Amino acid sequence: MNKINIHQKEFEIFLENETICKRTRLMGIQLNVDYEGQCPIFIGVLNGSFLFMADLLKEVEVDCEVGFIRVASYQGTASSGEIKETFGLPENLGGKDVIIVEDIVDTGLTLQYILEKVNAQNPASINVCSLLFKPAALLSPIKELTYVGFEIPNEFVVGYGLDYDGLGRNLKDIYRAI
Ligand code: IMP
Repeated sequence: MNKINIHQKEFEIFLENETICKRTRLMGIQLNVDYEGQCPIFIGVLNGSFLFMADLLKEVEVDCEVGFIRVASYQGTASSGEIKETFGLPENLGGKDVIIVEDIVDTGLTLQYILEKVNAQNPASINVCSLLFKPAALLSPIKELTYVGFEIPNEFVVGYGLDYDGLGRNLKDIYRAI
């Protein structure tokens, strides 16, 4: 399928599953080298990271723990704007090597918020592994963003965990809006 429609919006193929899996395999190899002899904890950010997390973790051979968190955004009435809340962040991250697994880093605001929460627990180290990254959309640099699958233009993408208004997460390829 080269073109699909979701909610009456047209998308075209952007990254095929085979391309994603090849890149994921390489990221896994890199993580195995970088974390040799360590026991990191991978924390996937739901919902978008569920497929990437599953495929990535199958490539990871070092001993590791696995967890998930969910970040909800609320439009606040206060002038501060958006209020966020995290659900399920493990409470025992002190002294651990943490790897946050994201589907996509866009403005980076979600990630900044998660990093603050994780850093407050004084982990030994913290790195971020994101399948996709839109450098042009990033609002401020994130030094923890060490592992990136694909740098992509500032366009809306869907599939392989990413949704368009609730739909498309189950697509095995990634599509971009046209
Ligand atoms: P950020 O806080 O702006 O970096 O956005 C992060 C979240 O926005 C991601 O985890 C996604 O859920 C969502 N997001 C950003 N860009 C896209 C996109 O192109 N397609 C689908 N979801 C996106």
